[in-house]
Amino acid sequence: MTKTKPVVIVDQAMVQDSLRYLRDKETQIEVFRFHSNRICQWLFAEAVRDLPMEAVKIQTPLSQAQAKVVAGDVMIVPILRAGVAMLAGALQALPYARIGFVGLKRDENTAIAEQYYWNIPSVTNKTTIIITDPMLATGGSIWYVLDRLRGVEAASKRVVCVVAAPEGLAKVQADFPEVKIVTAAVDKRLNRQAYIVPGLGDYGDRYCGTDGNQAEMSG
Ligand code: PRP
Ligand code: URA
Repeated sequence: MTKTKPVVIVDQAMVQDSLRYLRDKETQIEVFRFHSNRICQWLFAEAVRDLPMEAVKIQTPLSQAQAKVVAGDVMIVPILRAGVAMLAGALQALPYARIGFVGLKRDENTAIAEQYYWNIPSVTNKTTIIITDPMLATGGSIWYVLDRLRGVEAASKRVVCVVAAPEGLAKVQADFPEVKIVTAAVDKRLNRQAYIVPGLGDYGDRYCGTDGNQAEMSG
């Protein structure tokens, strides 16, 4: 039986400082975006801390030197829509990463995620896949992507989120114990609408400046 990887809670000063702004309901959108980018840089840096490296020789202005590069390639998979908010920070940490996209939307009544988009580029056994979505609530969205990627052989599959709920972590870890999950916080619980408490509200709405409603289409 695979041993369950412990959840990595990044209890680091800059991560926790940014989380405080993300949680505060008074935080304005431009400050929210700044801290979203900042926290993601650090969360992604933590997510790849243990990636295998290989030695390369380079030339400094003075002499030859040994250096290290990440072995294989990294693919970031943000879950639309809120996962897009993670991308700017993620690419600061991993500017060479390839990007795949999955579009999922939770039904407001059942909290079950439904797919509306899937575009994952080719993967080899040297690819590290990092699925990212800021809120791991019921875990349904992350679970869905991991489940669809079950047959895909990669170097490893990892998850980065900003806030996770114990219920969602349990669901993902029950079926994917080998997956490393990185988060800034594990909160208390879900409420009846499957929102994380205390959480930070709706990440997608706060980052995108939306209110959960959509414009009426005419014509
Ligand atoms: C929210 C959030 C996560 C998902 C998490 O997205 O951004 O993607 O719910 O919930 P889960 O762990 O219970 O699956 P939402 O469906 O509201 O879509 P959005 O990203 O378009 O706002
Ligand atoms: N999605 C969010 O944006 N926030 C939650 O608390 C749960 C799902």
